[in-house]
Amino acid sequence: MHHIDIPSTADKEQKFKALLPQIESLVSGESDLIANLSNIAAALKEGCRYFWVGFYLVRGDELVLGPFQGPVACTRIARGKGVCGDCWEQGKVIVVPDVEKYPGHIACNAASKSEIVLPIVKNGEVTMILDVDSEVLDDFDQVDQWFLREVAEIVSKRLKIEQRLNR
Ligand code: SME
Repeated sequence: MHHIDIPSTADKEQKFKALLPQIESLVSGESDLIANLSNIAAALKEGCRYFWVGFYLVRGDELVLGPFQGPVACTRIARGKGVCGDCWEQGKVIVVPDVEKYPGHIACNAASKSEIVLPIVKNGEVTMILDVDSEVLDDFDQVDQWFLREVAEIVSKRLKIEQRLNR
């Protein structure tokens, strides 16, 4: 399958429920990590209209920009820096309703107002993070949080995450 069907419902939960199996199916016939992350980023951008969606991959002591959709972004983030670096260090989801109120937030794009960052954990280690930004304040409600946790789970369970990413 090389396209996604986005139901024309205003019900976000229904839309996300329809998208999840499609995202699983997008990556099920392909083993290449970068290809799969690229298609997931595209599916989230197209299906959810998020402002910026992408992956940062753990490489050594930094996060390095991976496949994404949206405006150009910072390429390297140190552990414990910004929302992404904190998410990596803490290994837990961070929801930021107002980026201006988050100490140390890294502003890649001035239009970004709220953000959610999720760790992708493989064998007990954070191997990458999924970052989603919105142009609207406090834009990530419980439904987005549930949906993006499911997406992070698909990445962690279904994708072959190569060890070399950690070097
Ligand atoms: N705002 C992030 C940096 C990544 S961009 O939003 C794409 C942060 O503070 O880690």
